[in-house]
Amino acid sequence: MPSGHHNGGRTRRRPVLHRLRALAAVAALGATSLLPVATASASAAPAEASTPAARVDNPYAGAGVYVNPEWAANAAAEPGGSAVAGQPTAVWLDRIAAINGTAGHLGLRGHLDNAVRQAAGKPFVVQLVVYDLPGRDCAALASNGELGPTEIGRYRTEFIDPIAAVLADPAYAGLRIVTTVEIDSLPNLVTNAGGTATATPQCDTMKANGNYVNGVGYALAKLGAVPNVYNYVDAGHHGWLGWDSNLGPAVDVLHQAATAAGSTTANVHGFIVNTANYSALKEPYYTIDDSVNGTSVRQSAWVDWNRYVDELSYAQAFRQKAVSAGFDPAVGMLIDTSRNGWGGAARPTGPGARTSVDSYVDGGRTDRRFQTGNWCNQSGAGLGERPRTAPEPGIDAYVWVKPPGESDGASQYIPNDEGKGFDRMCDPTYTGNARNNFHLSGALPGAPLAGAWFSAQFQELLKNAYPPVTGGGTGDTTPPSTPAGLRATATTAATVSLAWTASTDNVGVTGYDVYRNGTAVGSTTGAGGTTYTDGGLTASTAYRYTVVARDAAGNASTASAALTVTTAAGSGGGSSGCTATYRVGSDWGSGFNADVTVTNTGTAAATHWKVTWTWGGTQQVSNLWNGVLAQSGPSVTVTNAPYNGALAAGASTAFGFGAGYSGGNTAPTLSCTTS
Ligand code: BGC
Repeated sequence: MPSGHHNGGRTRRRPVLHRLRALAAVAALGATSLLPVATASASAAPAEASTPAARVDNPYAGAGVYVNPEWAANAAAEPGGSAVAGQPTAVWLDRIAAINGTAGHLGLRGHLDNAVRQAAGKPFVVQLVVYDLPGRDCAALASNGELGPTEIGRYRTEFIDPIAAVLADPAYAGLRIVTTVEIDSLPNLVTNAGGTATATPQCDTMKANGNYVNGVGYALAKLGAVPNVYNYVDAGHHGWLGWDSNLGPAVDVLHQAATAAGSTTANVHGFIVNTANYSALKEPYYTIDDSVNGTSVRQSAWVDWNRYVDELSYAQAFRQKAVSAGFDPAVGMLIDTSRNGWGGAARPTGPGARTSVDSYVDGGRTDRRFQTGNWCNQSGAGLGERPRTAPEPGIDAYVWVKPPGESDGASQYIPNDEGKGFDRMCDPTYTGNARNNFHLSGALPGAPLAGAWFSAQFQELLKNAYPPVTGGGTGDTTPPSTPAGLRATATTAATVSLAWTASTDNVGVTGYDVYRNGTAVGSTTGAGGTTYTDGGLTASTAYRYTVVARDAAGNASTASAALTVTTAAGSGGGSSGCTATYRVGSDWGSGFNADVTVTNTGTAAATHWKVTWTWGGTQQVSNLWNGVLAQSGPSVTVTNAPYNGALAAGASTAFGFGAGYSGGNTAPTLSCTTS
């Protein structure tokens, strides 16, 4: 998903040094408290049809944010990755098939059902990216999509309408659904179409046929009709639209789209900048107003007459320009900070030498790209600010929309059925084009297809994170506070439900471990994972419980005060049991994806489930989601994930996995038990 094609054709202006660092008056939006946004509940029962909530000013204020279990599993499987695996990231609807789910991947309903569970009845944001316009990614090839330039009809009826129908389901009315609408598309119409030096034929086509503008308008109108959807439209980044000659036209085309195809500006809750890009949030060692020996930094090769040096100043200025152009004065901004950290050993520690504007800017800038138009798998980049709410005036939240570790594009051509091409901006040997002013691409080598997991990039992002990631056994040694207030909230003959008060920690609580009679029996995820139901117990028996909190650096708190609970007398009130159904989604001869549906076939609710099987051939599971895997030779045991163990009588849940094999791939016989 390239998002950095700047305008090589912009007009050069003489320096105009009236102080115009548009940071002024922005309406105070939402709470200014720094709320931790990663929360996930553990074994809380799924909330039933939740109450519709009126749209709020800042959806992130006071709300938890959805942790995508598929991304979390990829991150947690990386060395050091568990320190960030509990962060919320967006779910990308990047093709029609993503709505129902592709082999081994949850569909939209699956994610929303999980979100309702994680919400556990509290205010909760789920972040979606709507990304399948006709002729997608017109100035690059890496994220070209499945719909041709003229297929606006399919976009409406096969993509937007079904998404809107799912989002309108009353079961999801209690969620705050934040959508990022069609990144890169409208900015591409500004700089890469219509006779500019950087225009591409595909962008010219999309400008001429109106399908970006009308597609975005249609999406905004349809999705905006759902009362709990919050639309944020993509507004590029400072290194793309931050030139005066680009910004005005960008605001205009966004306004045009917001009022196209039956939409009005009321459907726009805000804008998002830096989506999937690498532009620094705040450059600490220079501002756009600085000059060296009377020469403005705007004349440096790096700034090159841009009006902004970083995303925060750009986002705040963009907001004001949008309001002046007729958007709602209450619009808020999101900034994608997933990969704009620029820490690590190469990060400057002070301003550059004041010998020339170039040495001053180049010596002091934290963004180490060759050029701000570079957008693919940038070498040297790090994770940026962790997601959080209302960090600065006018900014609704810092968010991780591009899931860190997912590639921007392949470094060479890889055949695929998603329409994705090979863009040389992802090839580290490429010396550039007009859109990055003929600089080296700066891309990491060995990258897989856009959207696929790229382990080396994840490691690079972790290493260069700014603020640094203190987990992974280095740095932080302060343990979380001891969990307090441990109590039993319900007891049956076979289960004890526990609750306690959240712990606090300097680098963030990632979850809790529950001990029964001194043995760990389960865990929960996130600082808010403060409930747990223990199952498989014997009637009329006393059990002693304690709870320990863990933090992002792997430190554990001291154990809570112990609580002794006696289970209820046996009643013969029904029992749970289960079946497991195995389905192969796709099999390509040396590997396959499968999913397994677990159904409680008993008459009582279950709190835990376990599925086991033995492979008949050489099959080995390589990664698994929505369950916990234990594998020993051909025997496989999968137990529930912390959030999907609770199964009412008759209810189902599913887990999925990818596996490799050689020779035959006969389906195994599964056994299923509940407790
Ligand atoms: C890809 C999408 C993917 C997204 C998130 C984009 O570059 O084109 O397929 O879902 O990145 O990683």
